[in-house]
Amino acid sequence: MSILVTGAAGFIGAYTCQALAARGERVVGLDNYNDYYDPQLKRDRVAALCPQVDIRTLDLTDRDGLAALFDEVQPTRVVHLAAQAGVRYSLENPHAYVESNLVGFVNVLELCRHRGVQHLLYASSSSVYGDSATPPFSEDQRVDRPRSLYAATKAANELMAYTYAQLYGLPATGLRFFTVYGPWGRPDMAPLLFSRAVLAGRSIEVFNEGRMRRDFTHVSDIVAGILGALSQPSAEPTPHQVFNLGNHTPVELEHFIEVIATAAGRPAHKIYRPMQPGDMVETMADTRRAHAAFGYAPRTPIETGLPPVVQWCREYFGSAA
Ligand SMILES: NC(=O)c1ccc[n+]([C@@H]2O[C@H](COP(=O)([O-])OP(=O)(O)OC[C@H]3O[C@@H](n4cnc5c(N)ncnc54)[C@H](O)[C@@H]3O)[C@@H](O)[C@H]2O)c1
Repeated sequence: MSILVTGAAGFIGAYTCQALAARGERVVGLDNYNDYYDPQLKRDRVAALCPQVDIRTLDLTDRDGLAALFDEVQPTRVVHLAAQAGVRYSLENPHAYVESNLVGFVNVLELCRHRGVQHLLYASSSSVYGDSATPPFSEDQRVDRPRSLYAATKAANELMAYTYAQLYGLPATGLRFFTVYGPWGRPDMAPLLFSRAVLAGRSIEVFNEGRMRRDFTHVSDIVAGILGALSQPSAEPTPHQVFNLGNHTPVELEHFIEVIATAAGRPAHKIYRPMQPGDMVETMADTRRAHAAFGYAPRTPIETGLPPVVQWCREYFGSAA
């Protein structure tokens, strides 16, 4: 009865490994430690959060290596979090998304199918809602108008998992995460970018002239959702489900920046920029489905979740913030 976590050195992956290990599960992780952002941060994160977890260095596109790992570990459940993340980078390097998120995803699906995995849980994203949905986003709204290739790969993952569930009876659950933040977070995302810039007295770029609302979700709430989804078997006729995991409380970007500035004890110098291609103006999760299925109830407002992120940036990045 072991659980394989992919993307285990990543932001959400390392916290997931930590929580599973704390629950006494047998966990094995994999990660390719790529340099989309500093791999040293990934190593330090693992050392801080889940040093006891066995994490192998492996790329999802290495089919033989992945098959050998499945044979060795014989996971009954797979939490698939490894992906090329980031909306803006998908405009610059589309092939990274095709390789990790499409080729890599099929490799995971195939092994789950052939090795009899009992439940595949995988990371989708709020970005699948793209141009079609109106907030609050609920799982039955359309997701066929993505605004970026990143979003397109995540929507494709949902279709691929649905197909495997239909054809081969592989129970699969997609989790649409909404802008996740916390200590040890991703340095390419606004919470860390803004915190570090404010701490260092640098100006921050604020897109769409600040007229943006995001459903920022604390990583502890996301991990609680992952654990909840993992323990509930698929209940639908076709064993594929998707759930929003968000905070259900969109926050104005200007307020978000204010909270950071207050925690940093320094003013934020803002440079207003137009909307970036691929971005969404507002995200907001309707979380009723996850609540009904496994009691998902996010409990962290940014006023309590964000100051520790600023503090962590101060400690981790020091004068290099
Ligand atoms: N953080 C968010 O706000 C957010 C929002 C929506 C969806 N997601 C999704 O959640 C998942 C985890 O995101 P995260 O924020 O922890 O990102 P992350 O980049 O910190 O973690 C992903 C990890 O996967 C690894 N990885 C990437 N490609 C790989 C490959 N081909 N083989 C092996 N390992 C590979 C990376 O090295 C990284 O450590 C991703 O699927 C992401 O798309 C995240």
